[in-house]
Order: sequence, then C-alpha cells, then structure tokens
Amino acid sequence: MGDGLAGRVALVTGATRGIGRAIALTLAEAGASVVVSGRDPARVAEAASTVEALGVPGLGVAADVASAEDVKRLVGEAQERFGRVDILVNNAGITRDALLVRMKDADWDEVLAVDLRGAFYASRAVARLMMRQRSGRIINIASTAGVMGNAGQANYSAAKAGLLGLTKALARELAHWGILVNAVAPGLIETDMTAALPPEAREGLLAQVPLKRAGTAQEVAEVVRFLASDAAGYITGQVIHVNGGLYM
Ligand code: NAI
Repeated sequence: MGDGLAGRVALVTGATRGIGRAIALTLAEAGASVVVSGRDPARVAEAASTVEALGVPGLGVAADVASAEDVKRLVGEAQERFGRVDILVNNAGITRDALLVRMKDADWDEVLAVDLRGAFYASRAVARLMMRQRSGRIINIASTAGVMGNAGQANYSAAKAGLLGLTKALARELAHWGILVNAVAPGLIETDMTAALPPEAREGLLAQVPLKRAGTAQEVAEVVRFLASDAAGYITGQVIHVNGGLYM
C-alpha cells in the first residue's frame, strides 16, 4: 500500500463499477479512506468491502446523486464516520443517447440531473466541510464529448461541457480556502457504459484515436490519484484529457 494519500478521506460517486470503482480502489491503494456511493445498496456494500480488503477504512452509502436529499445524507454519513472529506470525485454519470429530433424531454432531464446537477449537489455539500478544513480537492469526471461534442449525445455533451464550466467557476471561487478543482476528460474507455455502444459507433470513434485502442478505467484512475495528491498542489481549474489523442 502506497502512503501518498494516507490519512485522507475520499468520496467517490458512482463507485460500484467502471471508472468510479477503479478510482475508489486506486485512492484506497494510495492509503486514503474511501466512501463509495452508488444507487444499489448491495453493490455499494460490495465495493466498500473491496476497499477494506486493501487495508484502509471504507464506507458504502447508497445515494442517488440526482437527489439533493440523498447527497446531503451521503456527505453527512461521510462526515459522521470520518470527520472530514479531503477528496471528492464526481464520477456518477449516465447516457441516454438519441438524435436530437428523437430526443425525449426525459432523456435530456435525466442526463442533466445525474451528470451535472449531481456534481453541483455533491460539490456544494462537500465544499462546506473543505472550507472549514481550508483544504480539499474536487475532481470532476467529464468527457471528450464535453469539448468535441458527439452526434447523438446532445444531452450528454451539454452536461459534460457544463461540468467543465462548473469546474472552472469552483476553481476560482474555492481557491481562497485551498480547495483545488479540476476535471478529467476521458475519451473512449472500456467499461459497461461503452460496451453498450453500437459496434459502428465504437469503430468510428476508434478510427479517430491516434493510439488505436480504447483506454482502461485504471488509466483514468491514475490521473485522479495524481490530482488528489500533494504533487498536484499548483494545478487548479484544469481539464486533463485521457483519450489516446482523440482530442488534442
Ligand atoms: P458505468 O455506467 O460503468 O458506471 C457509472 C456509475 O455511476 C455506476 O456505478 C452507476 O451505478 C453510477 N450511477 C449512475 N447513475 C447514478 C446516480 N443517479 N447516482 C449515483 N450513482 C449513479 O460508467 P463509466 O464508463 O464507468 O463512467 C463513469 C464516468 O466516466 C461517467 O461520468 C461517464 O460519463 C464518464 N466517462 C466515461 C467514458 C467511457 O468511455 N466509459 C468516457 C468519458 C467519460
């Protein structure tokens, strides 16, 4: 177990699988105590016990990031158990892809509610603790779609672009309290989310990736680990791209 984050408390949303899970386990390996959250209580409990198996304290809290009440309870339980939160990773995200003219109001609203409003709720709740601590790191998992746009993902591209604006506004607003806010923008990463992509869409995307392969959740998690560490103490308001060169 590394000691880079020993004694720190991290909270990761959407940590039951995919990129969020890799982030939770990587922060745990670096020595952080980790609060894992997601909607399904059984999966959340399983993720928390996987964290504990790495030899650090873990806490699982079932919470829907689109619900202000749930997020308040999530952060409250984290504070009750650990007394602080040093690292917030806003990772929970969904897609509801459709071409614009076929996109339903609910497709738009659900994606904005989870991918953007959820990050606002969690950042607001955690910032109160971090301001008192006069330190903290907020890391938002955005997407290449938020900078390049993606046909069939008007809702998701808008939400992720919004997350970049949120990142920069919070970086400016919270710098005074020693809270650093950055975004990580992954390209095509091998997870359940992208397993659902139609093969043509996947091939089309891969053809544009100079490294000619999809990335792994671990390759995203390593960048989050760095941004959470003391080594990244002079980085705020930035978007770090992890995309094999898809966008540069
Ligand atoms: P995934 O679908 O495998 O995992 C998403 C996680 O978020 C799951 O644990 C899920 O339970 C949780 N979640 C969904 N809705 C939630 C809600 N309302 N409240 C709490 N938790 C919720 O997705 P993946 O691929 O691991 O994506 C993680 C993040 O990375 C997302 O924000 C996604 O937009 C972003 N991303 C993923 C890329 C990829 O290629 N897989 C590329 C760029 C960004």
